[in-house]
Amino acid sequence: MNYENILSKTTNGITSITINRPKKLNALNKATIEELHEAFKAADKDKNTKVIIITGSGDKAFVAGADISEFADFNVNEGGKLAAQGQAILFDFVENLKTPVIAAVNGFALGGGLELAMACHFRIASSNAKMGLPEVSLGVIPGYGGTQRLPQLVGKGRAMEMVMTAGMIDANQALSYGLVNHVVEPDQLVPLAEKIASKIMRNSSVAIGKAIKAINANYTDGKDGYKVEIKQFGKCFGTEDFVEGTTAFLEKRKAEFPGK
Ligand code: COA
Repeated sequence: MNYENILSKTTNGITSITINRPKKLNALNKATIEELHEAFKAADKDKNTKVIIITGSGDKAFVAGADISEFADFNVNEGGKLAAQGQAILFDFVENLKTPVIAAVNGFALGGGLELAMACHFRIASSNAKMGLPEVSLGVIPGYGGTQRLPQLVGKGRAMEMVMTAGMIDANQALSYGLVNHVVEPDQLVPLAEKIASKIMRNSSVAIGKAIKAINANYTDGKDGYKVEIKQFGKCFGTEDFVEGTTAFLEKRKAEFPGK
């Protein structure tokens, strides 16, 4: 599929999605959100894609937020709809994919950009990355899950401070907050993402998908994560990957998992 605002390519089990509006610091307009939805959906369905890496093009920004020029004249209903649609097709959608998604944060990740990174399963950052939720400086609040995911990741007090001050933290502070897992020099960011992806790919994609479901259940209202874990654990016993994984271990060989 041809996209106008993003790039997507699949090589050696990894689908790399790059938001490609560098002149607008990769700000998320409606068209980009829709294209991201299509690209993530296709990658999740694709049997050859074991890991998805998302990053921003250029050396300045991952994503500098939702595109302010598109919503500056919205009314109450339009504002509510913007958040609801975005959460449904991109932010919640990415969080609930069965394929692991790594955010490679290569510069500014602000507002919707940080929210997108937080919807990914985990994040790594380049040393020049800067992260924040500046929405209150514009008279709105984070609307793509930021008020929920930031406290989950960094704790309530830090999230409150970040949101209220509308300030940015640098990559090392994000690392100390647990917002990102690793910080490396910019030219090492994608290689690190690929290295982590290659470790993930050695394991059962089917089991990983079920683990994502169980972990996410802990953060979903009305769900008992322990019950979800028990159910998903049980389901693993009916999979070819389980037969292969345990058989390979007992035969002292490397498992060759059939795939997604
Ligand atoms: N929405 C729409 N356009 C944006 C944008 C956004 N969130 N962030 C950056 N851009 C655009 C700028 O308008 C500018 O476009 P132009 O060249 O046509 O005028 C271009 O991207 C470059 O940005 P600029 O502000 O000139 O870069 P800078 O290096 O001076 O500043 C930032 C970088 C990130 C500090 C600044 O762009 C910024 O504050 N962006 C908004 C961040 C934000 O509030 N995000 C939350 C939105 S809810």
